[in-house]
Amino acid sequence: MHTDVKEILFTSEQIKGRIQELGRQINADYRGKMLVLVGILNGVKPFLNDLLSTLNLPVSHDLIELSSYGQSTVSSGTVHVLKDVALDISGKDVLLVEDIVDTGLTLHTAIEHLRSRKTGSLKTCALLNKQTRRSVAITPDYYGFTIPDLFVVGYGLDYAENYRELPYIGVLKINK
Ligand code: IMP
Repeated sequence: MHTDVKEILFTSEQIKGRIQELGRQINADYRGKMLVLVGILNGVKPFLNDLLSTLNLPVSHDLIELSSYGQSTVSSGTVHVLKDVALDISGKDVLLVEDIVDTGLTLHTAIEHLRSRKTGSLKTCALLNKQTRRSVAITPDYYGFTIPDLFVVGYGLDYAENYRELPYIGVLKINK
């Protein structure tokens, strides 16, 4: 375990197992349809890749980037679109994929942004859900795990661009 990590919340095996379950649910819900997955950069990459590999639907994917926390563990309260989707998503069934939903501001901003592109159906999927921290009333349609109010790293999640490479999700020692 990394010396900056206090505790492992989910091992690589637990994460992969839960993503298989999410994939089965998404395959069933979108059977006979084409799906566009739109991932929110940067932390979503491992989750998006592993989720894609569980899907047996005609699927395409794209990425969107929103302003992040930078060097902080608390949200600044405003979110901007830094990189837009390149695919034409008008009229398409879109699943917005995020690594972790905390205050909900990022997901909310991304939803509003994609709606302005006149998507068909629009649902959301997050690996981690910090439900108690919400400032926007929003719950992802699909999510892997609910976690308490702790700052976590690994499996794509960073603190100041560090720890993304860890194969597990762990609690950072800076948490009180
Ligand atoms: P929200 O806008 O407050 O919901 O924050 C969502 C974004 O903040 C996520 O996509 C992550 O990039 C980042 N974030 C929130 N909580 C954590 C955490 O515990 N570890 C790492 N990044 C986090």
